[in-house]
Amino acid sequence: MIGLLEVPINNLFSVQLLSWSNGQPLLRLVREAVFMVEQGVSAEMEWDGLDEACQHALALSATGDAIGCGRISPEGHIGRIAVLPAWRGKRVGSSLLESLLGYARSQHYAQVDLSAQIQAVPFYWHFNFSEVGEIFMDANMPHIKMQLSLEHC
Ligand SMILES: CC(C)(COP(=O)(O)OP(=O)(O)OC[C@H]1O[C@@H](n2cnc3c(N)ncnc32)[C@H](O)[C@@H]1OP(=O)(O)O)[C@@H](O)C(=O)NCCC(=O)NCCS
Repeated sequence: MIGLLEVPINNLFSVQLLSWSNGQPLLRLVREAVFMVEQGVSAEMEWDGLDEACQHALALSATGDAIGCGRISPEGHIGRIAVLPAWRGKRVGSSLLESLLGYARSQHYAQVDLSAQIQAVPFYWHFNFSEVGEIFMDANMPHIKMQLSLEHC
């Protein structure tokens, strides 16, 4: 698989940016395990037709297994950040988000936003995202919009 940029984070895993057409099978594996099986999101909601237009980030273990993913749209909307349960708490999620933020900066996006599941809000605080507006329901889970200005960072 040819990604735009493959960054070995440590000797446990690496993160690469890639298109949906290059990463689809591995990106699907992670999202099916986390969003559809673990969180009960329907196939109709998960495969929303926006993947083709997005830039994707994929985390691979040292043995080449897909362990995490995320995406960013051309409008600067980050989403689908997921790490397999066995790999949580090892900075895989942070590395995926850093990779997507690096891409956003390279494209000179002034701002990025995301819809955070409420339990994941503290994860995004680590990157200085701020909540905006009211809590809303999506895929039967409470979410809140969060945004981050990139103009001075
Ligand atoms: C949320 C998620 C992506 C975080 O990935 P991760 O690889 O475990 O996160 P990291 O190891 O990079 O954690 C970075 C920091 O965020 C904190 N953090 C991570 N997830 C958190 C959570 N759910 N609540 C509070 N803090 C959290 C970590 O404790 C860590 O803090 P520290 O630097 O002070 O130790 C992962 O838990 C996941 O895939 N969850 C299920 C899917 C999901 O909810 N996705 C988000 C949709 S909005």
